[in-house]
Amino acid sequence: MSIVYLNGEYLPADEAKVSVNDRGFLFSDGIYEVTPAYRGHFFLLDRHRDRLLKGMCELRLDADVAEVEAAHHELLRRNGLEDEAVSIVYLQITRGVAPRTHAFPKERVAPTIYAFAKAYHRPSRERWQEGFRAITVPDRRWARVDIKTVSLLGNVLAQQAAVDAGVDDSILIRDGVALEGAHSNFFAVLNGKLVTHPLSNTILPGITRGYVLELARELEIPVEERPIQVEELQRAEEAFFTGTTTEVKPCVEVDGRAVGSGAPGPITERLSEAFLERVGRIGTSAVGAGPA
Ligand code: PDD
Repeated sequence: MSIVYLNGEYLPADEAKVSVNDRGFLFSDGIYEVTPAYRGHFFLLDRHRDRLLKGMCELRLDADVAEVEAAHHELLRRNGLEDEAVSIVYLQITRGVAPRTHAFPKERVAPTIYAFAKAYHRPSRERWQEGFRAITVPDRRWARVDIKTVSLLGNVLAQQAAVDAGVDDSILIRDGVALEGAHSNFFAVLNGKLVTHPLSNTILPGITRGYVLELARELEIPVEERPIQVEELQRAEEAFFTGTTTEVKPCVEVDGRAVGSGAPGPITERLSEAFLERVGRIGTSAVGAGPA
Protein backbone atom coordinates (compact mmCIF):
# COMPACT_ATOMS: atom_id res chain seq x y z
CA MET A 1 0.00 0.00 0.00
CA SER A 2 1.53 3.31 -1.00
CA ILE A 3 1.95 6.08 1.53
CA VAL A 4 0.50 9.38 0.42
CA TYR A 5 0.68 12.92 1.74
CA LEU A 6 -2.53 14.72 2.66
CA ASN A 7 -2.60 18.08 4.43
CA GLY A 8 0.55 17.57 6.48
CA GLU A 9 0.05 13.87 7.21
CA TYR A 10 1.55 10.72 5.71
CA LEU A 11 -0.91 7.87 5.56
CA PRO A 12 -1.77 4.71 3.60
CA ALA A 13 -3.56 5.66 0.36
CA ASP A 14 -6.82 3.97 1.38
CA GLU A 15 -6.98 6.03 4.59
CA ALA A 16 -6.60 9.38 2.80
CA LYS A 17 -10.03 11.05 2.63
CA VAL A 18 -11.13 14.34 1.09
CA SER A 19 -14.43 16.12 1.77
CA VAL A 20 -17.26 16.08 -0.80
CA ASN A 21 -17.27 19.87 -0.33
CA ASP A 22 -13.72 20.17 -1.56
CA ARG A 23 -13.71 22.74 -4.37
CA GLY A 24 -11.40 20.48 -6.33
CA PHE A 25 -14.18 17.87 -6.40
CA LEU A 26 -17.01 20.36 -7.03
CA PHE A 27 -15.35 22.80 -9.48
CA SER A 28 -11.93 21.32 -10.34
CA ASP A 29 -10.72 24.45 -8.59
CA GLY A 30 -7.07 23.53 -8.22
CA ILE A 31 -3.76 22.87 -9.85
CA TYR A 32 -1.33 19.98 -10.05
CA GLU A 33 2.27 19.23 -10.85
CA VAL A 34 4.12 16.05 -11.80
CA THR A 35 7.84 16.03 -11.02
CA PRO A 36 10.21 13.24 -12.02
CA ALA A 37 13.03 11.80 -9.92
CA TYR A 38 15.90 9.72 -11.29
CA ARG A 39 17.36 7.34 -8.69
CA GLY A 40 15.81 9.48 -5.99
CA HIS A 41 17.07 12.83 -7.32
CA PHE A 42 14.45 15.25 -8.54
CA PHE A 43 15.04 16.55 -12.06
CA LEU A 44 14.48 20.26 -12.79
CA LEU A 45 12.64 20.62 -9.49
CA ASP A 46 13.15 24.40 -9.56
CA ARG A 47 11.33 24.67 -12.90
CA HIS A 48 8.43 22.56 -11.64
CA ARG A 49 8.30 24.76 -8.52
CA ASP A 50 8.26 27.93 -10.62
CA ARG A 51 5.38 26.64 -12.75
CA LEU A 52 3.50 25.64 -9.61
CA LEU A 53 4.01 29.11 -8.09
CA LYS A 54 2.84 30.74 -11.28
CA GLY A 55 -0.31 28.60 -11.31
CA MET A 56 -0.93 29.42 -7.64
CA CYS A 57 -0.69 33.13 -8.47
CA GLU A 58 -3.04 32.80 -11.45
CA LEU A 59 -5.69 31.02 -9.37
CA ARG A 60 -4.93 32.95 -6.16
CA LEU A 61 -4.17 29.76 -4.26
CA ASP A 62 -2.11 29.83 -1.15
CA ALA A 63 0.06 26.98 0.17
CA ASP A 64 3.39 26.47 1.88
CA VAL A 65 5.60 25.50 -1.04
CA ALA A 66 8.60 24.67 1.17
CA GLU A 67 6.48 22.12 3.01
CA VAL A 68 5.19 20.73 -0.28
CA GLU A 69 8.74 20.33 -1.50
CA ALA A 70 9.82 18.56 1.69
CA ALA A 71 6.88 16.18 1.16
CA HIS A 72 8.26 15.30 -2.29
CA HIS A 73 11.48 14.01 -0.75
CA GLU A 74 9.68 12.32 2.13
CA LEU A 75 7.29 10.49 -0.22
CA LEU A 76 10.19 8.96 -2.14
CA ARG A 77 11.73 7.86 1.16
CA ARG A 78 8.55 6.45 2.69
CA ASN A 79 7.68 4.56 -0.50
CA GLY A 80 11.14 3.04 -0.94
CA LEU A 81 11.68 4.89 -4.24
CA GLU A 82 15.07 6.45 -3.50
CA ASP A 83 16.88 3.87 -5.65
CA GLU A 84 14.18 3.53 -8.28
CA ALA A 85 15.42 4.29 -11.83
CA VAL A 86 12.57 6.72 -12.49
CA SER A 87 9.74 7.76 -10.24
CA ILE A 88 7.28 10.61 -10.22
CA VAL A 89 5.60 12.68 -7.53
CA TYR A 90 2.08 13.85 -8.33
CA LEU A 91 1.01 16.92 -6.35
CA GLN A 92 -2.41 18.54 -6.29
CA ILE A 93 -3.48 21.71 -4.50
CA THR A 94 -7.14 22.66 -4.44
CA ARG A 95 -8.75 25.71 -2.89
CA GLY A 96 -10.10 23.63 -0.04
CA VAL A 97 -13.43 22.80 1.57
CA ALA A 98 -16.28 25.33 1.53
CA PRO A 99 -20.04 25.45 0.89
CA ARG A 100 -20.65 25.44 -2.87
CA THR A 101 -20.61 28.97 -4.30
CA HIS A 102 -18.96 29.79 -7.61
CA ALA A 103 -16.84 32.68 -6.33
CA PHE A 104 -14.00 32.02 -3.91
CA PRO A 105 -15.09 31.49 -0.27
CA LYS A 106 -15.28 34.85 1.56
CA GLU A 107 -13.26 33.58 4.51
CA ARG A 108 -9.90 32.08 3.69
CA VAL A 109 -10.01 28.27 3.83
CA ALA A 110 -7.03 25.95 4.11
CA PRO A 111 -6.08 24.46 0.74
CA THR A 112 -6.26 20.70 0.28
CA ILE A 113 -2.78 19.44 -0.51
CA TYR A 114 -2.41 15.88 -1.74
CA ALA A 115 0.63 14.11 -3.15
CA PHE A 116 1.67 10.60 -4.03
CA ALA A 117 4.80 8.98 -5.46
CA LYS A 118 5.15 6.01 -7.77
CA ALA A 119 7.65 4.31 -10.02
CA TYR A 120 7.61 5.16 -13.73
CA HIS A 121 8.54 2.39 -16.15
CA ARG A 122 9.73 3.69 -19.48
CA PRO A 123 8.93 1.59 -22.55
CA SER A 124 11.64 -0.89 -23.56
CA ARG A 125 14.15 0.13 -26.22
CA GLU A 126 12.42 -2.29 -28.63
CA ARG A 127 9.02 -0.74 -27.99
CA TRP A 128 10.47 2.76 -28.39
CA GLN A 129 12.07 1.75 -31.71
CA GLU A 130 8.71 0.61 -33.03
CA GLY A 131 7.41 4.11 -32.39
CA PHE A 132 3.97 5.27 -31.32
CA ARG A 133 0.85 6.01 -33.34
CA ALA A 134 -1.40 9.03 -32.95
CA ILE A 135 -4.63 10.52 -34.24
CA THR A 136 -5.56 14.18 -34.52
CA VAL A 137 -8.55 15.31 -32.46
CA PRO A 138 -10.23 18.71 -32.03
CA ASP A 139 -8.97 20.62 -29.00
CA ARG A 140 -12.02 21.18 -26.82
CA ARG A 141 -10.24 22.52 -23.77
CA TRP A 142 -10.64 25.94 -22.17
CA ALA A 143 -8.59 28.99 -23.17
CA ARG A 144 -5.99 28.89 -20.35
CA VAL A 145 -4.38 25.48 -20.69
CA ASP A 146 -1.04 27.11 -19.86
CA ILE A 147 -2.20 26.83 -16.24
CA LYS A 148 -1.76 23.24 -15.02
CA THR A 149 -5.25 22.92 -13.56
CA VAL A 150 -6.79 19.62 -12.51
CA SER A 151 -9.59 20.44 -14.97
CA LEU A 152 -8.48 17.85 -17.54
CA LEU A 153 -11.73 16.58 -19.04
CA GLY A 154 -10.74 17.80 -22.53
CA ASN A 155 -7.45 15.91 -22.19
CA VAL A 156 -9.20 12.82 -20.85
CA LEU A 157 -11.63 12.74 -23.80
CA ALA A 158 -8.78 13.29 -26.27
CA GLN A 159 -6.78 10.41 -24.81
CA GLN A 160 -9.86 8.19 -24.74
CA ALA A 161 -10.39 8.95 -28.44
CA ALA A 162 -6.87 7.59 -29.05
CA VAL A 163 -7.65 4.46 -27.02
CA ASP A 164 -10.93 4.00 -28.90
CA ALA A 165 -9.03 4.32 -32.20
CA GLY A 166 -6.51 1.69 -31.06
CA VAL A 167 -3.55 4.12 -31.11
CA ASP A 168 -1.23 5.46 -28.44
CA ASP A 169 -1.71 9.23 -28.40
CA SER A 170 -3.72 12.10 -29.71
CA ILE A 171 -2.60 15.43 -31.14
CA LEU A 172 -4.90 18.33 -30.26
CA ILE A 173 -5.90 20.55 -33.17
CA ARG A 174 -7.32 24.06 -32.85
CA ASP A 175 -7.88 26.47 -35.76
CA GLY A 176 -5.95 24.13 -38.04
CA VAL A 177 -2.90 24.08 -35.74
CA ALA A 178 -1.32 21.04 -34.04
CA LEU A 179 -0.89 22.26 -30.47
CA GLU A 180 0.24 19.42 -28.21
CA GLY A 181 -0.61 15.90 -27.08
CA ALA A 182 -3.31 15.00 -24.57
CA HIS A 183 -0.64 14.79 -21.86
CA SER A 184 2.55 15.87 -23.60
CA ASN A 185 4.01 18.53 -25.89
CA PHE A 186 4.42 17.90 -29.60
CA PHE A 187 7.36 18.45 -31.95
CA ALA A 188 7.76 17.89 -35.69
CA VAL A 189 10.80 18.01 -37.94
CA LEU A 190 10.01 20.03 -41.07
CA ASN A 191 12.64 20.74 -43.72
CA GLY A 192 15.33 19.64 -41.27
CA LYS A 193 14.13 22.08 -38.59
CA LEU A 194 12.76 21.09 -35.23
CA VAL A 195 9.42 22.85 -34.85
CA THR A 196 7.12 23.14 -31.85
CA HIS A 197 4.27 25.47 -30.92
CA PRO A 198 5.46 28.64 -29.14
CA LEU A 199 4.48 29.23 -25.51
CA SER A 200 0.98 30.68 -25.36
CA ASN A 201 -2.33 30.18 -23.57
CA THR A 202 -3.04 27.21 -25.89
CA ILE A 203 -0.34 24.80 -24.70
CA LEU A 204 1.11 23.75 -21.37
CA PRO A 205 4.63 25.18 -20.91
CA GLY A 206 6.10 21.70 -20.52
CA ILE A 207 9.27 21.45 -18.48
CA THR A 208 10.51 18.63 -20.74
CA ARG A 209 9.66 20.74 -23.81
CA GLY A 210 11.89 23.55 -22.54
CA TYR A 211 14.72 21.16 -21.68
CA VAL A 212 14.56 19.40 -25.06
CA LEU A 213 14.69 22.78 -26.83
CA GLU A 214 17.83 23.59 -24.84
CA LEU A 215 19.35 20.22 -25.77
CA ALA A 216 18.51 20.83 -29.45
CA ARG A 217 20.24 24.21 -29.38
CA GLU A 218 23.27 22.63 -27.71
CA LEU A 219 23.37 19.96 -30.39
CA GLU A 220 23.07 22.68 -33.02
CA ILE A 221 19.81 21.31 -34.35
CA PRO A 222 17.93 24.23 -35.95
CA VAL A 223 14.86 25.08 -33.90
CA GLU A 224 11.75 27.07 -34.69
CA GLU A 225 8.95 27.83 -32.23
CA ARG A 226 5.93 28.48 -34.42
CA PRO A 227 2.46 26.98 -34.98
CA ILE A 228 2.47 23.70 -36.95
CA GLN A 229 -0.36 23.61 -39.49
CA VAL A 230 -2.24 20.32 -39.50
CA GLU A 231 -1.49 19.86 -43.23
CA GLU A 232 2.22 20.01 -42.45
CA LEU A 233 1.91 16.80 -40.45
CA GLN A 234 1.58 14.90 -43.72
CA ARG A 235 5.03 15.94 -44.84
CA ALA A 236 6.79 15.98 -41.47
CA GLU A 237 10.09 14.09 -41.60
CA GLU A 238 9.81 13.19 -37.92
CA ALA A 239 7.56 13.82 -34.95
CA PHE A 240 7.73 13.19 -31.23
CA PHE A 241 6.07 13.96 -27.92
CA THR A 242 7.76 15.20 -24.73
CA GLY A 243 6.69 15.15 -21.11
CA THR A 244 7.55 14.05 -17.62
CA THR A 245 5.89 10.66 -18.11
CA THR A 246 6.77 10.64 -21.81
CA GLU A 247 10.42 11.77 -21.94
CA VAL A 248 11.11 11.84 -25.72
CA LYS A 249 8.61 9.56 -27.46
CA PRO A 250 8.65 9.06 -31.24
CA CYS A 251 5.40 9.50 -33.13
CA VAL A 252 5.64 7.41 -36.30
CA GLU A 253 2.08 7.56 -37.58
CA VAL A 254 -0.60 10.27 -37.62
CA ASP A 255 -4.15 9.45 -38.71
CA GLY A 256 -3.00 6.23 -40.35
CA ARG A 257 -0.20 7.83 -42.42
CA ALA A 258 3.47 7.15 -41.71
CA VAL A 259 5.54 10.07 -40.43
CA GLY A 260 8.74 10.14 -42.50
CA SER A 261 10.05 6.59 -42.88
CA GLY A 262 7.55 5.27 -40.32
CA ALA A 263 10.35 4.73 -37.79
CA PRO A 264 11.89 7.09 -35.20
CA GLY A 265 14.01 9.62 -37.13
CA PRO A 266 17.62 10.71 -36.51
CA ILE A 267 16.78 13.99 -34.73
CA THR A 268 14.34 12.21 -32.43
CA GLU A 269 17.02 9.58 -31.72
CA ARG A 270 19.69 12.18 -30.97
CA LEU A 271 17.47 14.16 -28.65
CA SER A 272 16.21 11.09 -26.86
CA GLU A 273 19.75 9.80 -26.40
CA ALA A 274 20.95 13.17 -25.12
CA PHE A 275 17.99 13.36 -22.75
CA LEU A 276 18.57 9.85 -21.39
CA GLU A 277 22.27 10.52 -21.07
CA ARG A 278 21.59 13.66 -19.00
CA VAL A 279 19.05 12.09 -16.70
CA GLY A 280 21.27 9.00 -16.43
CA ARG A 281 23.98 11.21 -14.96
CA ILE A 282 21.82 12.69 -12.22
CA GLY A 283 23.14 11.82 -8.82
CA THR A 284 26.16 9.97 -10.21
CA SER A 285 28.54 12.94 -10.23
CA ALA A 286 28.88 16.45 -8.89
CA VAL A 287 27.76 17.78 -12.28
CA GLY A 288 24.37 19.49 -12.14
CA ALA A 289 21.44 18.12 -14.08
CA GLY A 290 20.83 21.26 -16.11
CA PRO A 291 22.17 21.81 -19.62
CA ALA A 292 25.85 22.75 -19.76
N1 PDD B 1 1.33 15.93 -18.28
N2 PDD B 1 1.06 19.11 -22.18
C1 PDD B 1 0.10 18.57 -21.42
C2 PDD B 1 -1.32 18.78 -21.81
C3 PDD B 1 0.44 17.80 -20.29
O1 PDD B 1 -0.52 17.27 -19.53
C4 PDD B 1 1.82 17.59 -19.98
C5 PDD B 1 2.25 16.80 -18.78
C6 PDD B 1 2.78 18.17 -20.82
C7 PDD B 1 4.25 18.01 -20.56
O2 PDD B 1 4.68 18.78 -19.48
P1 PDD B 1 5.97 18.37 -18.62
O3 PDD B 1 7.09 18.21 -19.58
O4 PDD B 1 6.16 19.52 -17.70
O5 PDD B 1 5.63 17.07 -17.93
C8 PDD B 1 2.36 18.94 -21.90
C9 PDD B 1 1.55 15.33 -16.96
C10 PDD B 1 2.80 14.54 -16.85
C11 PDD B 1 0.31 14.57 -16.53
O6 PDD B 1 -0.77 15.12 -16.72
O7 PDD B 1 0.40 13.49 -15.95
